[in-house]
Amino acid sequence: MTLRARGLRYAYPGGHAALDGVDLDVAGGERVAILGPNGAGKTTFMLHLNGLLKGEGELQVAGLPVIKPNLRELRARVGLVFQDPDDQLFMPTVGEDVAFGPANLGVQDVPARVAEALAAVRLDGFEARAPHQLSMGERRRVAIATVLAMRPALLVLDEPSASLDPRSRRELLQILETIQATLLVTTHDLLFAAELCERTVILAAGRVVADGPTDALLADAELLARYDLELPRLVNASTTTS
Ligand SMILES: Nc1ncnc2c1ncn2[C@@H]1O[C@H](COP(=O)(O)OP(=O)(O)OP(=O)(O)O)[C@@H](O)[C@H]1O
Ligand SMILES: [Mg+2]
Repeated sequence: MTLRARGLRYAYPGGHAALDGVDLDVAGGERVAILGPNGAGKTTFMLHLNGLLKGEGELQVAGLPVIKPNLRELRARVGLVFQDPDDQLFMPTVGEDVAFGPANLGVQDVPARVAEALAAVRLDGFEARAPHQLSMGERRRVAIATVLAMRPALLVLDEPSASLDPRSRRELLQILETIQATLLVTTHDLLFAAELCERTVILAAGRVVADGPTDALLADAELLARYDLELPRLVNASTTTS
């Protein structure tokens, strides 16, 4: 198992139970979408996977229990891509941002790692560019490159298609489809989930309320309605008339 959570609970200071007993297993190589309404706990769950937040219960990721002594190793094995690339990029150039992780790990040939990660997100040659002068879609790809440069076993992305135009969204899908790591993606973009992930988990009020093949879950109108999930209307129309 690349991920094993049992009874994972977390309350933010102030007492709000954001995770209320999450049980989840993800095997190596799976691509899993995590859907759910605003406030369901999706981001909170993601932040547990490399120990940025620490809840109660059992959590093992990439072969390691998520406990303090393992945090350094976990941050190498688990790549977290935040929803806002500006939370991830903080160096003057793209090259330095992508080099930061591998340099910290003591990797031998950092420039080769950087070139490889930028090529994977189709930003070859962007090393000298300033992140703040890139478009949103490009910044998101740089953010993904910063974690790919660590060659993570598990790649976790929070709403990767948010605020991308259709072409950038399509390019991102193609990039993610070629990535070898186990993938966990939270999204409100149900079609993005359907194209990328064979499996979907629905989180609501801090618990897993559904888990199964993406196609089956997205075809269950009652289930979607119950958790405030909605397919684009035109797609509904074409599926009901065909
Ligand atoms: N830093 C925080 N302090 C206090 N409460 C928080 C904090 N971050 C999130 N919460 C609360 O925890 C719950 C879960 O939030 P979380 O961000 O995990 O939801 P989400 O499923 O990612 O939602 P969204 O779809 O809007 O991104 C929400 O009720 C939210 O108000
Ligand atoms: Mg969120």
